[in-house]
Amino acid sequence: MKPTDDLNEEHRAVKLMLRILGGVCKNIETGKNVKSGHLEELVEFMRVFVDKCHHTKEEAYLFPEMEKAGIPGAGELISPLKKEHEEGRQYVSRIEKEVSEKGENRELPSIVENSRAYIQLLTLHIDKEENNLFPMADACLSQAVQQDLLESFEVVETEIIGPGKHEEFHRWLHTMAEIYAKPE
Ligand SMILES: [Fe+2]
Ligand SMILES: [Fe+2]
Repeated sequence: MKPTDDLNEEHRAVKLMLRILGGVCKNIETGKNVKSGHLEELVEFMRVFVDKCHHTKEEAYLFPEMEKAGIPGAGELISPLKKEHEEGRQYVSRIEKEVSEKGENRELPSIVENSRAYIQLLTLHIDKEENNLFPMADACLSQAVQQDLLESFEVVETEIIGPGKHEEFHRWLHTMAEIYAKPE
């Protein structure tokens, strides 16, 4: 297993979450019910799984190793990717702010607007990583560095998410997909 296999697997989960979020936006817009708890759980997934776990693996470990290895062209790819992580955080903060409001004080159009922007941003971001950055990492990082990365990823997961939480997130995604991301 390569470090990028681990990241690709997380991308699959993130993409499913984005489909769920899209379904939630649609429900809000068509006046269908969305449980308040579901919005809070989505924010938790964005904060913990996407940002604290996945983005930390990339920003604190993969990107610096690629820069250190002096791979031609890597810097040009990495710097916009880092900015996009930051932009994503801003959208999540805005969504979280509204979700934390109670009842009628919640600005639902703002949740929809920021969620749609977040979906678009992360979809393009993931495509860039999978098509451009990860193949470069696979080809240019030494076996030893790739092994170290996998070990660091393991530590991020245990320390940030905690044992069992990863599986819990996957079960939750499955349940949410049944409600919001059913094929038409
Ligand atoms: Fe990323
Ligand atoms: Fe990623």
